[in-house]
Amino acid sequence: MATRLLFLRGPAARGLRGCGMPNSMRVQARGLAAQAAVYTETGSPQDVIQVVERELPDAADGLEPGQVVVRMLAAPVNPSDLNQIEGTYPVRGRFATMALRGGATIHGAVGGNEGVGEVVATAHGVDGVQPGDWVVPRRAGEFGTWCSHTVAAADGLVAIPRAWRAGVQPADVACLKVNPSTAYRMLRDFAELRAGDYVIQNGANSGVGRAVIQLARHWGFRTINVVRDRPHLATLQQELQALGGDIVVSDRQLGDEDVKQRLRSLDAPVRLGFNCVGGRATLQMTKFISAGGTLVSYGGMSRQPVTLPTSLLLFNDIRARGFWMNRWYADCQGDSAREAEMAAMWQDILALVRGGAFATQPLAESRWLAAMPLADAQRLVSSAVAWGSGAKHAFSF
Ligand SMILES: NC(=O)c1ccc[n+]([C@@H]2O[C@H](COP(=O)([O-])OP(=O)(O)OC[C@H]3O[C@@H](n4cnc5c(N)ncnc54)[C@H](OP(=O)(O)O)[C@@H]3O)[C@@H](O)[C@H]2O)c1
Repeated sequence: MATRLLFLRGPAARGLRGCGMPNSMRVQARGLAAQAAVYTETGSPQDVIQVVERELPDAADGLEPGQVVVRMLAAPVNPSDLNQIEGTYPVRGRFATMALRGGATIHGAVGGNEGVGEVVATAHGVDGVQPGDWVVPRRAGEFGTWCSHTVAAADGLVAIPRAWRAGVQPADVACLKVNPSTAYRMLRDFAELRAGDYVIQNGANSGVGRAVIQLARHWGFRTINVVRDRPHLATLQQELQALGGDIVVSDRQLGDEDVKQRLRSLDAPVRLGFNCVGGRATLQMTKFISAGGTLVSYGGMSRQPVTLPTSLLLFNDIRARGFWMNRWYADCQGDSAREAEMAAMWQDILALVRGGAFATQPLAESRWLAAMPLADAQRLVSSAVAWGSGAKHAFSF
């Protein structure tokens, strides 16, 4: 049975108003100096991100009712985080005026939408989370995760049941909500796959792509994985095959006659195609989706539109759909069946991690120490937010 996640809403989450206690007794935290990666305007992440030292409320000023102090443990740098800083993502960062150590203020947003933190203090009356709990943001844009500590509204957090933490690392939980969950939903919600069916995908070495490979293997589906051509392609092919990828080819190889022949004579249908690239890479891949199959676009890394020839729609009846994990989460809100589904999904994925059947994508760990000189933290963050650095970065705090 799925353990219930804690969703904090309503009066309990907002704290006890007028409970008669002085502010100084209503929090367990005392003043904190927190480092945070902030942007004051949208633009190229490397140009606009600056690391600042924030002054978080101390016990004397107190937390607002319903607030908690969170010490971040780990937070990845996802492509959508960079798009958000550029101003091209539909979810905007939460801009606010923040007090800095030393008395100045800054109006900006803290970067990052995904991550896990540990609650270190709660305003009095917050009864759904307690110090020591691991929490993840409820929604993208809820609060910036690229920081050592933050103050967040308890009703914007989801607490991870303590039992789920056994045998998993903070990075596994930090990266749970976006990539593995996207793969999980796309494999489940767009077709009735049968054991042995194929799924084809581009960007197969991405975080989502690797999650698709591992979940598909676990559920008995097979994957055709397309990656961009590169030197040492064989190394990546072996890596993805070791994860469970059945066929791994480069976009160049997808044009080879023998590969085309092989993909046209599979012993089971290719019912789904997952696209995170766009442009030619999507067209090339969609040709191998079986008649009546579905192309699900969930990303646009090439920044090229998805264009499909009429013949694929007419003669192969290919359906073109889109998927956005944020919308799925938004639809969960207030729907207890959906919330249970979300809990079951996260529990499933973490159980696979614990059992060694699922590995979080390789992450270039940027260790961000709270006491780091700001200039060092700035260098660390600037290199982690550079597009095309060749590795997915994650901060550990
Ligand atoms: N819809 C949703 O809910 C949802 C959820 C999660 C992710 N996403 C999207 O899915 C995509 C992948 O995210 P991720 O976190 O899994 O990515 P990631 O781990 O950072 O990997 C990025 C992937 O994109 C490829 N790539 C980068 N630039 C490219 C280009 N110009 N043309 C073609 N491929 C390129 C990389 O291939 P190389 O190794 O060849 O560079 C790699 O496979 C992003 O667009 C992200 O926003 C969407």
